[in-house]
Amino acid sequence: MTVQWYPGHMAKARKTLEENLKLVNIVIELCDARLPYSSRNPAIDRIIGKKPRVLVFNKADLADPVQSEYWMDYYKKQGFTVVFTDAKAGDGVKKVIAAVNKAMEEKVNRSLERGRIATTLYAMVVGIPNVGKSSFVNKVAGKAAAKTGDRPGVTREKQWLSMGEDIYLLDTPGLLWPRIDNQFAAMRLAASGAVKDEVVDTGELCAFLLTFIDSHYPGALEARYGIKIPETEEFEDTGYVTETILGAERLAKGLAILEACGKARGCLVKGGSVDLGRAAALVLDDYRAGKIGKISLDFPEVLDEEADISLRNEEAARVKEEKRAARKANYRSRKNAKR
Ligand code: G4P
Repeated sequence: MTVQWYPGHMAKARKTLEENLKLVNIVIELCDARLPYSSRNPAIDRIIGKKPRVLVFNKADLADPVQSEYWMDYYKKQGFTVVFTDAKAGDGVKKVIAAVNKAMEEKVNRSLERGRIATTLYAMVVGIPNVGKSSFVNKVAGKAAAKTGDRPGVTREKQWLSMGEDIYLLDTPGLLWPRIDNQFAAMRLAASGAVKDEVVDTGELCAFLLTFIDSHYPGALEARYGIKIPETEEFEDTGYVTETILGAERLAKGLAILEACGKARGCLVKGGSVDLGRAAALVLDDYRAGKIGKISLDFPEVLDEEADISLRNEEAARVKEEKRAARKANYRSRKNAKR
């Protein structure tokens, strides 16, 4: 399974972002609370540089509070201002406004000392797809989402929304590309909905998700689907996926669980066998809507394990490539010798 984000997309997103960044004093980096590591963009630090930033983990209502606490602490220790929000309900949004004010305190005080009566702050939201940027912007602006129109002296075309307290928010959030450096992170992003289902193998994705839930949230799948977790051998491999980073055993186990969920929900085709495609869509919808429970996918110990697997895979790919190149060189030299 490979997740695509084309260089053309990236270059365009980066350019727009860099232009808009020049207009603001502070950045609100929105991430998914279920993926406090995987939903952050690896290039973001380089792009926003030293500009003040508030790190917001949205969809906190869907995340595991125990994991959220771990990540809150993790990022605070790194010096970040961190807020967890639920942009759908509006929870935590006021805390973001307070955090923006706090982060800008020095600047505001400096200009007050210089005799200014008020200092207007300009902010923008950035984040990868589907983390809730639009929902957040709408919530922040509230019902008075009355566009404030062009702010004279700032820019002609940009629309700014009032966040209250003399803070204005750019109405168009900055789009960042998801991190695609690791296939496990890509699967978590796909599970969260940040990557379109069309570009992933949903069966393999569900195998990943269901085995993860089964081992880290025991009982959650049984409770949701009324199933008994099947043994790996109960799934007959018909060559559904030939190559996977999950390993054959985890894939088989995941597909067996998926089959059980599908059967429990009546996702059957003529003849009575389970329609795995339909079952996968149902499970993914359930996960994304929080119906399986408050389930986070970035566990620090799992991230370490996966980094090892990714490194091993990279190493194996490198050795394979070296061997291929050596074979090619050998073939060429034999061919030249014959001439
Ligand atoms: P984006 O701009 O970053 O792409 O994200 P957007 O606001 O469009 O939100 C993506 C989906 O996530 C939407 O659901 C939205 O309602 C949901 N969402 C946003 N913030 C939260 C949150 O804090 N908690 C929860 N539970 N959901 C959130 P959708 O299914 O695409 O649309 P709909 O449900 O609004 O109809």
